[in-house]
Amino acid sequence: MFQRTVAPDIEIRLLNPRDAAAVFTAVDRDRAYLREWLPWVDATLKPEDIRYFIEDVVAVQWNDNRGPHCGIWVEGALAGSVGCHPIDWANRECSIGYWIASARQGQGIVTRSVTAMLEYLFDTLRLHRVVIRCGTGNQRSCAVPERLGFTKEGVLRQAERVADRWVDLATWSMLEDEWRSRAK
Ligand SMILES: CC(C)(COP(=O)(O)OP(=O)(O)OC[C@H]1O[C@@H](n2cnc3c(N)ncnc32)[C@H](O)[C@@H]1OP(=O)(O)O)[C@@H](O)C(=O)NCCC(=O)NCCS
Repeated sequence: MFQRTVAPDIEIRLLNPRDAAAVFTAVDRDRAYLREWLPWVDATLKPEDIRYFIEDVVAVQWNDNRGPHCGIWVEGALAGSVGCHPIDWANRECSIGYWIASARQGQGIVTRSVTAMLEYLFDTLRLHRVVIRCGTGNQRSCAVPERLGFTKEGVLRQAERVADRWVDLATWSMLEDEWRSRAK
């Protein structure tokens, strides 16, 4: 089990198949807002779709020591997600992704949840490099790695198909020595 308290009313917790209904409700409520940048939203049509995803990231990824995929819980309610894509242990690297309910935007919940995830990835797992990729037009998403001191490496042109259009992805990274020497 992986759980971190981010702030008094905010925690991140490894997703459990039992969370599928809560995650689906949050996604379904914000479908139009989320589908603009997240390619999996249109294919998420029922709670079982989320349950299959959670079973996969827990059984295959977490149990195989390749990183957690968490729900973000605010005042006890599911408000979003922050998760690793499978860790590449040969290079001690992984990328992370996130989303937050529209009603919870602008409160620093994601930035602080990503910070808790980075503490685990750099301090506990001793990863060397963490990457965040976001659509170049997704200013709120790009603001998260920028706020945290990541370096923008470049742009992958038309690298992701989202909502029937091609999205250019900005790649941001942080290295372990940058994490340890960052201003807190
Ligand atoms: C991208 C996304 C996660 C960003 O959410 P967000 O709410 O802007 O990010 P945060 O929760 O970190 O909030 C940042 C804001 O809180 C403010 N804030 C308040 N308290 C804060 C704190 N303690 N720490 C950091 N920021 C704080 C920041 O100043 C910032 O304000 P601003 O928006 O006025 O500049 C959200 O827009 C989203 O889910 N979009 C749809 C899905 C998506 O695009 N996912 C990413 C795909 S790559």
